[in-house]
Amino acid sequence: MCTLKAILHDATMLLKAVKSMPELEQTKAKYLGKSGSLTAQLKSLGTMGAEEKKVAGAAINQIKAQVETLISEAKSRIASAELEATLDTESIDVTQPGRSAGVGGLHPVTRALEQIEALFATMGFAVADGPEIETDYYCFTALNTPPNHPARSMQDTFYIADSEHVLRPHTSPVQIRYMEEHKPPFRIICPGRVYRCDHDATHSPMFHQIEGLWIDEAISLADLKGTLTQFLRAFFERDDMQIRFRPSFFPFVEPGVEVDMEWENKGGKIKWLEIGGAGVVHPQVLRNGNIDPEKYSGFAFGIGLDRLAMLKYGVTDLRLFFENDIKFLSQFR
Ligand code: FA5
Repeated sequence: MCTLKAILHDATMLLKAVKSMPELEQTKAKYLGKSGSLTAQLKSLGTMGAEEKKVAGAAINQIKAQVETLISEAKSRIASAELEATLDTESIDVTQPGRSAGVGGLHPVTRALEQIEALFATMGFAVADGPEIETDYYCFTALNTPPNHPARSMQDTFYIADSEHVLRPHTSPVQIRYMEEHKPPFRIICPGRVYRCDHDATHSPMFHQIEGLWIDEAISLADLKGTLTQFLRAFFERDDMQIRFRPSFFPFVEPGVEVDMEWENKGGKIKWLEIGGAGVVHPQVLRNGNIDPEKYSGFAFGIGLDRLAMLKYGVTDLRLFFENDIKFLSQFR
């Protein structure tokens, strides 16, 4: 018992005086470590008889608990002393520049789209929308492309397992959906994602088109040419820009054209780049949309939004738009 009292006295003196964590660890080991004095006391119980062990065991555990309390008090005292010392010595330099949060920006394709929507709005065009997973009917049949017609393979379409639905390969199905719901006259553009099995510097498996449709009495190819020329010159801010309309075939227009615009390549050479297809809406397509072709006519176009953005911002590889590379994208902030 005398020994235990001496241990507690000694431990109290030392633990109240310790000033650092390493010193505390050393002191703790002196009592509770492998060869600590309290550990030795506990080991000695093994040599005692049952009755003696009971009394001595209780006494040792009581002293052990007191020593442990002293240790945890010392620990919190040292921790708060250390914190205060740190606060006293360290200071915050409020004149240092802050860390910037990084400013995001619109994707160049979104930017181009916003400008295009604004330009067409000035010409009286509303914006319409349609589903990206479309039925075979709206993508082909209603657009005057009967089953097994070779025109179906003009675009490499992604079919969905049920073979009734496809990932729309162009925005033209919106023409039919809009005609079904609205009475002429109307002018719309329909921007959106489209999908094709295509992949190179100027073709991406997912890209964006902008469909245009103007139905009224006596709308002709002249209106189409005027509208697209005015739009492209405004978008590229060049009044002298040359636009070319080449005869072409799409089953949903008659006559049909391919639209090319003049473009200067890196070497300063003038080239033509195809940006879309267009034409005068086929009478059968008007009928499929519940519109009387004897009374109304119209034009439609489908232009590649990504191609326009490439030309506007001088990007030579279309795939860069879809790689999510911050270095590339931050140039357009
Ligand atoms: C069509 O998709 C027709 N629906 C356009 C149309 C609408 C014609 C209305 C008549 C009336 P085309 O397959 O040519 O046509 O595609 C139109 C434009 O989309 C192309 O000129 C090109 O600019 C762009 N385009 C086509 N494939 C890709 C691709 N894989 N990646 C990026 N742009 C593409």
